Parts: sequence; C-alpha cells; structure tokens
Amino acid sequence: MATFVVVGLQYGDEGKGKITDVLSSKSDYVVRFQGGDNAGHTVYVGEDKFVLHLLPSGVLQCKGKCIIANGVVVNPKNFLKETSQLEARGYSTDHIFISRRAHVIMPYHILLDTYREEEAGNESIGTTKKGIGPCYEDKIARMGIRMVDLLNPEVLREKINLNLKLKNSLFEKYYGKPKLDADEVYEEFISLGQALVHRIVDTERELNEAIHSGKTVLFEGAQALMLDIDFGTYPFVTSSSPSTGGVCTGAGVPPTSLQHLIGVAKAYTTRVGNGPFPTELDNELGEKIRKIGHEFGATTGRPRRTGWLDLVSLKHACMINGINNLVITKLDVLSGIGEIKIATHYLTEDCKKIDYFTSSTTKLYKYTPIYETLEGWDEDIAQIKSYDELPSAAKKYLEFIEKYLGIAVYLVSVGPERSQNIIRKELF
Ligand code: GDP
Ligand code: IMO
Ligand code: MG
Repeated sequence: MATFVVVGLQYGDEGKGKITDVLSSKSDYVVRFQGGDNAGHTVYVGEDKFVLHLLPSGVLQCKGKCIIANGVVVNPKNFLKETSQLEARGYSTDHIFISRRAHVIMPYHILLDTYREEEAGNESIGTTKKGIGPCYEDKIARMGIRMVDLLNPEVLREKINLNLKLKNSLFEKYYGKPKLDADEVYEEFISLGQALVHRIVDTERELNEAIHSGKTVLFEGAQALMLDIDFGTYPFVTSSSPSTGGVCTGAGVPPTSLQHLIGVAKAYTTRVGNGPFPTELDNELGEKIRKIGHEFGATTGRPRRTGWLDLVSLKHACMINGINNLVITKLDVLSGIGEIKIATHYLTEDCKKIDYFTSSTTKLYKYTPIYETLEGWDEDIAQIKSYDELPSAAKKYLEFIEKYLGIAVYLVSVGPERSQNIIRKELF
C-alpha cells in the first residue's frame, strides 16, 4: 500500500498543484476528492504555465489514471473546456475519469451563487461564483443531479423539472431575475452526458482494489483546512471538507488506507475572498509580498490578501488533518524582505494569551497575533537543491516551524517550476 494525500493548511493557494504534479510522476492514480472548478492549481513545466481547475494536477505526468471522485462537484461544460485546452497543447486526456456518483453543477447553482453574493454586498463571502455552495446544498438536500443521471433521459428530465420549479420561483419572486427554461437546460445536459459517457464510471471499487494491490494512489486536495466547512473560519469557507478526512467520504476509501498525509503551507499566508485573517499585512510590506509572490488568484484573478505565517492556525490545521509530512512553499519569496515575523499565540480581547484556534469567527476578528521576530536573509535561494546550502537564517525559520508543530518539513519549494525543490526525505 502506498497512498499519499496532499492538502492545503491555510486559506488555499499554498502550491498544492505544484506538489501534486511533482509526486504524480510516480503515481498510478491521482484523485480529486472534493471541491470543483473553484480550485486553481498552477503547474510550471519550464516556462509553460498550466492552471488546472477541475482536472487533477497529475494530468500532465501521471502514467496511470486521473480520477474525479464522488466528492467532487462537476461542471461538465468546464470539464470539456479544460480537457480540450490541454489537448490543444499536446497532452492526452484519455486517462481522466469521473465518478458516476459525483454531483453536477447546474446553471441554476451558478446563478444562485452569483445572486446571493450580489445581494450580500459588503457581507459577501467572496465566493468564486462557480456554483459550489448551491450544488453541495442540493446534494445534502437529496435533490442533486449526479453524473449518472446525465445518462438517463427520464431521470434527468424529472430532476430538472423538480429543481427548476423551486429555483425559478426563487429567481422570479425573490431575486426579480429571469426564469430558466427547463427544455433548454435538459437539452444541454443530456448532450453533455453523451459527450462524457466514456468517462463516467464507478471509481470507489477500482480505487480500493488499486490500494490493496499496492499501487501508488495520490489524493489531491483543493482549497484548504481554514476554508473547511466544519473547521475553517465559518461562514467564510467553502462548502466541502478539504481535509484528509474528506478523502474517505470523497473517494470511498477507508481511513486505514491513508498513509502519507502531506500538508502544504506557504512560508507566509495569503487569503482570497472575505473573512478573518489575524496576521494580515494590510500595508506596504503586504503589497511587496503580493508583488514578489505574484499573489493573484489563479481562478478569479483577484489580488490575494497577504500576511505573516500563523502558527496558531497551522497547528489547528495539522491537528485536524493528522499531518505527518510538511511541505513549505514559496520560501524564495521571503528573500530580501528583512526581519520575518511569525505568529505563535493570539491575544484575546480580554487579554488572554492563547495558542489554540477558536470556533468563534466573530471573536477571531478581535484577536491580536503575538509574534516572534526572526532574522531574514538576502540570498536568492531559487536554485538551491540541498538543505545545507540554504542561508542559516532560512534554516532557522524552517526549524522554528518544525519545532512548534512537532512535524518534519520533508520538502521545501523554492520556485514555481516543478524542479525547484529541496527534498529532505524521499517518500517513495
Ligand atoms: P494551489 O491552489 O495550492 O495549487 O496554488 P496556486 O497555484 O493557486 O498558487 C500558488 C502560486 O505560487 C502559483 O502561481 C505557483 O506557480 C506558485 N508557486 C508554487 N510554489 C512556489 C514556490 O516555491 N515559489 C514561488 N515563487 N512560487 C511558487
Ligand atoms: P485552491 O484549490 C483560495 C475561497 C473563495 C471564498 C471561499 C468560498 O486553488 O487552493 P467557493 O467558491 O468555494 O464557494 O468560495 O473560498 N476559495 C479559495 N481560495 N484557493 C482556492 O482553491 C479556493 N476555492 C475557494 O475565495 O473565499
Ligand atoms: Mg489555487
């Protein structure tokens, strides 16, 4: 058995795509288990940039299969767009399959996401407007449309009618917006089903058999623990479980089958969208980090908010995920920025010093981070391949993180290209 899970430990965009790409060259399966095309996972092959949204980031190098498992919400039109873009660049997509159980993002999900965000104004979550929340809502309400339904005209027709009865009334009466035409939606989705029929398969049995027969299976998380529906900064979260626990329900594999739990964190913090961010640098230094780190959303192009590394939230994320291998990315971005701060505690509004995360998002806004200040470094580290060659201040920074979390950093990423890594321990 050789299973690997890659999850984000902050607010997304930690570099999961890059790490998945690196690990996928030795994987028989690369599996997405939650989220949808709200993800934006960047992979650089030399100068060539690829941004994967719904497709697993293993698609470029994995010699086996890429699976979009049951826990993912699938926009079929965007799936076809993404695969054809890759094919146009000379990559095969024949090895990508989608679970029959995965739920389908319908046009009314996207509209609902958009109308709600518009209505919320300053109070909005800042979603990607890809229809993720409304699609998961229908799944839980047991009225969702699954990939398998796209292959059954009668079922699809009935489900579209049922859903549109409700949604159209909401659009018309509450939002004052136009209704959707059931015939048009049906025609579009029945033909999308036909275009995907060869890819819609059962995935859970194959994945379990692969694990039992010793194949290497890599699970790729989207979003991150601080955006987790249960353990993130609710309600400023996504609507799925981007944790290692999410793998079990999202791909149909048991907890006992998960081996290497890899948590990816940036050497600092970013967040796109609204919600609390205790270590945010809403100043010139934050702007500088945004510029050097090219911190603009891979899906929406929005500028990412930037700030110092927050060990309090990172410890929470490692605990929930049971991380046993850490990856620190974008260490190169901190070169030359001077002294580096790192949050080890929060000061609560009633002046208590705490080192654990809170379930109260309203309180979190009022917490002040308490920092340790560490020496910075000026050297360009982007081409360094061995840990020993790193400036001693950079090593001290990494060792501080390891000591606080009690978890070893097994890989340090020092640039966006797939070869820009310092690997301290071969996992396979
Ligand atoms: P993901 O959503 O977790 O896959 O991350 P994104 O792709 O949204 O954002 C990470 C960004 O940082 C992308 O533009 C990557 O190309 C880039 N990146 C990843 N690792 C590194 C690194 O170590 N150094 C630098 N400078 N950029 C990196
Ligand atoms: P990757 O996989 C960063 C954020 C949105 C918003 C909140 C809810 O690239 O790390 P949603 O559309 O999911 O309902 O939006 O979650 N968000 C992300 N932020 N990276 C992502 O994915 C994200 N996916 C969603 O900005 O705040
Ligand atoms: Mg991203």
